[in-house]
Amino acid sequence: MSLGPTGAGPCILEPTDEAIAEAGTLIGAGRLVAFPTETVYGLGADATSDAAVAGIFAAKDRPQFNPLIVHVPDRAAAEREALFDSRARALADAFWPGPLSLVLARRPDTRLSLLVSAGLETVALRTPDHAVARALLAAAGRPIAAPSANRSGEVSPTTAKHVAQSLGARVDLILDGGPCPVGLESTVIDLSGPHPALLRPGGIVRAAVEEIAGPLALAGEADAAAPKSPGMALRHYAPRAPLRLDAGAARAGEALLAFGPEAPSAGGMVLNLSPEGDLAEAAANFFAMLRALDRPGVAAIAVMPIPEDGLGAAINDRLRRAAEGPVAGG
Ligand code: TXA
Ligand code: MG
Repeated sequence: MSLGPTGAGPCILEPTDEAIAEAGTLIGAGRLVAFPTETVYGLGADATSDAAVAGIFAAKDRPQFNPLIVHVPDRAAAEREALFDSRARALADAFWPGPLSLVLARRPDTRLSLLVSAGLETVALRTPDHAVARALLAAAGRPIAAPSANRSGEVSPTTAKHVAQSLGARVDLILDGGPCPVGLESTVIDLSGPHPALLRPGGIVRAAVEEIAGPLALAGEADAAAPKSPGMALRHYAPRAPLRLDAGAARAGEALLAFGPEAPSAGGMVLNLSPEGDLAEAAANFFAMLRALDRPGVAAIAVMPIPEDGLGAAINDRLRRAAEGPVAGG
């Protein structure tokens, strides 16, 4: 069996033990594997690797870095990455494995990529209820980040064929587990604030969650100052230092977030997203470098121009939002 980018169509395999072992190896090597869950097919990658997670955004043509759901085998594995309180434990014990994702504060010692959280201090976690997804998690031996396995703007795939039609050879392997039984994404509950909030309705109905967690606020409801548009309800990481975009070089007191071979050679406070000008590498480094430059004493972060193609669109989207300053309420 030969796997890998052949330029032809994607490799679709029945989920035999051999195929699952191969899929686990691919995940460990930073590659992309589409797999069935009870909700929809996920586009999976190693959630501990910024580069692997950048590959997800590239394959989906996502113009923005939205935080992704991280899949784990059970609550014990989830508790190694995020801080659980009694509400979170009660919800996990009631609905895992199953279509409920919990947004929780990242543990300070988590191994998870910052890109998987889009730079936030929180992470969404869930344990899927599908034999193939669970076997893949066991074979990979690490948490798997997986948004729905479709290109941005398309509907979520519920069969392996949908995935192949949407992503083609952009995915290294598709595990075919037949149609997804739920067919709708997981319910996303934010437990990172004082009041549990429903961020996305999904496979577990609101009333069932409220029986355990109490009344749920809708996203943005708990905070009158928060923007009303659903897409904007998410709090985004913004640096403390102001950003100066499209900069050629740093001025006195500024740090420089550089890109490409033309960048001033490292010195002072210069970090280069990708000296070779590779946008996937730049995406993988983006949040970590922005944070590293956002230090006390830095008057501003000058940012060199990033091309708008490929993952550049998502990087620029985030830069423009960050340059506007922190979102009200967050
Ligand atoms: O059913 C599902 O959840 C599927 C299957 C593959 O598991 N996965 C999925 O993942 O739908 P994704 O990455 O497309 O869903 C991400 C959604 C975001 O739109 C956002 O609403 C929420 O989860 N989310 C993830 N991380 C978050 C965070 N740190 N803070 C707030 N919301 C978050
Ligand atoms: Mg989706």
